[in-house]
Amino acid sequence: MSNPLPNTALTQDELKTLVGQAALQYVVRGEIVGVGTGSTVNKFIDALATIKDEIKGAVSSSVASTERLRACGIKVFEAADVDELSVYIDGADEIDHNGFMIKGGGAALTREKIVAAQSKKFVCIADASKLVETLGTFPLPIEVIPMATARVIKQFAAMGGEGTVRMKEGKPLVTDNGQHIVDVTGLQIKDPLAFESTISQWPGVVTVGVFAHQKAQVCLLGTASGVKTLAFE
Ligand code: 5RP
Repeated sequence: MSNPLPNTALTQDELKTLVGQAALQYVVRGEIVGVGTGSTVNKFIDALATIKDEIKGAVSSSVASTERLRACGIKVFEAADVDELSVYIDGADEIDHNGFMIKGGGAALTREKIVAAQSKKFVCIADASKLVETLGTFPLPIEVIPMATARVIKQFAAMGGEGTVRMKEGKPLVTDNGQHIVDVTGLQIKDPLAFESTISQWPGVVTVGVFAHQKAQVCLLGTASGVKTLAFE
């Protein structure tokens, strides 16, 4: 009698590869595609390289993605030089059942929100661990102008959140835009639209990592049983 098959559950990395490849179906051939940032997007960029001759190029949301796209031979356009994009493909740190997300784990939230806003459709690619009931378990990234950091941390403390400046090699991390990141824990974001609007108005806040006004229309979720498509429109 043969032994049962060994447990062949896919790793998180393999799930990211699956959704990165699945996202190719949303890329409009002959056009420019919006590209996010992160380890899941890196899998998408690798997949995109296989159809690079079928697209015009990409608008990128970070220096890191730009370098990877160029290394794959994909032309990168400036966001300001192109009109509306049909689709933007990016990962998320958390996504809920409405398509609202927390993003910015890779510190690219500002440019990600800009390219998302420039795109008709946001396709989120994520492994199943990112799907949540309520946003807020993942530390919420806020891009902040450095002179406002202490004040922003105090304002979050008054709401029950604990903010800390993200560090890199012993110094505050500096974003592609020359700013700092405050990561906030202890929040349960019950109304993401209102939360995003409120925090965005605080002086010194460049971008809040809640993507509710720029939510996903589709999520390709990597699960143990394959890629699940969630539609939020
Ligand atoms: C970068 C992001 C990423 O999309 C998010 O952090 C998810 O990254 P990963 O795919 O590596 O889990 O918002 O700023």
